[in-house]
Amino acid sequence: MAKGKILVTGGAGYIGSHTVVELVEAGYEPIIVDNFSNSEESSLEGITAIVGYQVPCHRVDCTDAAAMRQVFEKEKDVQGVIHFAAYKAVGESVEQPLKYYHNNVGSLVTLLQIMEEFRMYNLVFSSSCTVYGIPEQLPVTEQTPVQKANSPYGNTKKVCEEILTDLANSGSKMQSIALRYFNPIGAHPSAKIGELPLGVPNNLVPFITQTAAGIREQLTIFGNDYDTPDGTNIRDYVHVVDLAKAHVVAVARLLEGKVDALEFFNVGTGQGTSVLEAVQAFERATGQKLNYKIGERRQGDVPKIFADVTKATEELGFKTTSTLEEAMKSAWDWQVSLQKR
Ligand code: NAD
Ligand code: WQD
Repeated sequence: MAKGKILVTGGAGYIGSHTVVELVEAGYEPIIVDNFSNSEESSLEGITAIVGYQVPCHRVDCTDAAAMRQVFEKEKDVQGVIHFAAYKAVGESVEQPLKYYHNNVGSLVTLLQIMEEFRMYNLVFSSSCTVYGIPEQLPVTEQTPVQKANSPYGNTKKVCEEILTDLANSGSKMQSIALRYFNPIGAHPSAKIGELPLGVPNNLVPFITQTAAGIREQLTIFGNDYDTPDGTNIRDYVHVVDLAKAHVVAVARLLEGKVDALEFFNVGTGQGTSVLEAVQAFERATGQKLNYKIGERRQGDVPKIFADVTKATEELGFKTTSTLEEAMKSAWDWQVSLQKR
C-alpha cells in the first residue's frame, strides 16, 4: 500500500531524479512534472531502471497555470508537492535576470495558487545556502541572518522564502518546509542517474570529473589566498542521495501534520571542506590524478560556508551516511557511464 502520491516538480533534474528514487524506496508514489528545460528524457529511463517501473511524468511548465491545473485534476489524490523546478545557473541569472524571476518566482506563485485551489497544503521547497550570503559566523544555523543575495538567482531563492513567509503569516493553511541545500554532489550508486551539466560546468565536481575524463584540459582552483587553512574556499559538500533522503523525511513530517506553517532546515554534512581537500578526496577515491592549477579568485565567491545541521538532525531525523570519498567515487562512476553512452 503506497504511502501517498507526491508531485515532484523538476523531478527529471539532478536532485529531483534522486528524490523520486528515494520516494519510491520509502513507499511513496511520486509523479513527475518537468518541462525538460534543463534535463533529458534519459533521466526518466535511469529512474525506471532503478525503481523497476515507469514513474508517471507530466511534461508541463510550472509557470503555466492552466496546464498545472490539469495535472492536479488528473492526479486527484496528491498528498504533497516537492518543488524543485527552477533555473540555477548563477552567471546566466546575472545576464538574464527576468528569465530567472519569471521561472523561479513565477513557478512557485503559480504552484501555490493551484495548491490552494485544490486544497493541497503540503509543500517542500528547494532553497539554498546562497540565502546566507557571506556569513559572519560559522557554522551557519537557520537563525543566521539571511543577507542580500549576490546574484539574481540567489535573490529568487530569498524572494521565494519571503513569499512562503508572507503566505504563512496570512493565515493560509499551507504547511511548507524550505530546505536550504549546501553543495550537492555525486550520483546514485547505480550510475544510472546523475548531474547533466550543459556546456562547460560551473560547479566544482562536474568540472573535476570532466577534467579527469579528458573533456576539460585542466581544473583551475579559483584562488588560494583566502583566509582558510590552505587558502582555498570552504564548502559543505553533501551527497545527493543523502540530500534526496532529506526530502523523504520532510514529506513524512508534513504528512504527519507536524509542521507549524513554515519551517527552514539546513541540509549539509556539517563538515567544511576546502577545494584542495575536495580534489584530494577525488584522487583518493578514484585513483585518478587530476590536472589542476591555482588561478585567480572567482568574482562573487563566498570564502567559507558550512552548515550546522543540528535542527535537521533533531527535528527531521536527517542524517548523512555517505563520505566525501563515496560521493566523489559516485560522481566519477556517473561520468564514466556517460562516456559509454
Ligand atoms: P536541475 O536543473 O537539474 O533540475 C531542475 C529541473 O526543473 C530540470 O529538470 C528542469 O527541466 C526543470 N524545470 C525548470 N524550470 C521548470 C518549469 N518552469 N517547469 C517545469 N520544470 C522546470 O537542478 P537541480 O540541481 O536538480 O536543482 C533543483 C532545485 O534545487 C532548484 O530549485 C535549485 O535552485 C535548487 N538548488 C540546487 C543546488 C545545486 O547546487 N544543484 C543548490 C541549492 C539549491
Ligand atoms: C565550489 C567551490 C569555487 C569550480 C554554487 C551557487 C550556489 C549553489 C551551489 C544553488 C568554490 C571552487 C569551482 C572551478 C573552483 N547553487 N571552484 N574551480 O560556488 O559554492 O555555489 O552552487 O543554489 O548558489 O553559487 O559551488 O561548485 O561553483 O564551487 O575552484 O572550476 O569550488 O571557487 O569555492 P558554489 P561551485
